[in-house]
Amino acid sequence: MMNGKKALIAGSTGLIGSELLQFLIHAKEYEKVFALVRRPLDINHPKLIEIIVDYSRLEEYARYFAVDDVFVCLGTTIKKAKTQEAMYKVDVEYPVKIGRLAKEKGATHYLLVSSMNANPKSRIFYSRMKGELEEKIQRLSFEYLSIFRPSLLLGNRQEFRLGEEFAAVLSKGLRFIFVGPLRKYTAIQGKTVAKAMYNTAQHKQPQKIIYHSQEIQKIGT
Ligand SMILES: NC(=O)c1ccc[n+]([C@@H]2O[C@H](COP(=O)([O-])OP(=O)(O)OC[C@H]3O[C@@H](n4cnc5c(N)ncnc54)[C@H](OP(=O)(O)O)[C@@H]3O)[C@@H](O)[C@H]2O)c1
Repeated sequence: MMNGKKALIAGSTGLIGSELLQFLIHAKEYEKVFALVRRPLDINHPKLIEIIVDYSRLEEYARYFAVDDVFVCLGTTIKKAKTQEAMYKVDVEYPVKIGRLAKEKGATHYLLVSSMNANPKSRIFYSRMKGELEEKIQRLSFEYLSIFRPSLLLGNRQEFRLGEEFAAVLSKGLRFIFVGPLRKYTAIQGKTVAKAMYNTAQHKQPQKIIYHSQEIQKIGT
C-alpha cells in the first residue's frame, strides 16, 4: 500500500511485542515496520525492516526513527538483569531514548507497555520504575500518547518464570472470584494487549492516555 504509515517497534521478540509485530506487518495501515532487535528475527516480510542495534548507542540509528507510530514493549526481569540499575536501563532509559529520537524525527504517537500499579511514589521498585517511566515519556510531549497498564500477562513464553506461572494458574482457577474491585487483577493475554495497542494506534484519542487492564481487554478483543 502506498502512503501508508510507518511504525517503529522495540521489543518485537517479547511476549507482547512478537504478537504486535504480526499485527503491524499484516495491517493495511502500515507500509513499513522498523523493528529494533538485538538478534535477527527469523521473519521475512516485505514490509519488515529489521535493525540490529546496540541499545547503548541508539542515537547511531536515528535515521530509522522517522516514523508515525512508535510501539515500545521492552522490559526485563531482575533475574535476567541482575541489578536494579541494569533493569532500569532496559525498562526506563531505552524507552525514553527511543521516544526522544522518534520525537526529534517527527513521530506523532508513542504507545507504551507499562504495568498495573505503576506509581513513581511506590515503595516497590518495579512499580516505582514503571511510574517514573510513564512520567518521563509524558514529558516528551508527543501529540498522542497511549500507556497500557496490563495485569499479569498470559501467553507462551520460552523462558519459565515460576512466580508468573503460579500466579497465572491461580488467576485462571480463581477467575470467578475476581469480581468487583478485584476484577482489575484478572490476568490478560499478551496477544490481547498487542491487539489493543494496534487498535489504539488506528483510533487516536488525544485526551486519553492511560489504559487499564479491563479496558485493554475490551479494546483488544
Ligand atoms: N510479565 C507480566 O506479567 C507483566 C505484567 C504487566 C506488565 N509487564 C510489562 O510488559 C512489558 C512487556 O512484557 P513481555 O512479557 O511482553 O516482555 P518479554 O517477553 O520479557 O520481552 C521483553 C523484550 O524486551 C527486550 N529486552 C530485554 N532485555 C533487553 C536488553 N537488555 N536490551 C534490549 N532489549 C531487551 C527483549 O529482547 P530480547 O529478545 O533481545 O531479549 C524482548 O523483546 C514489560 O515492560 C513488562 O515489565 C509484564
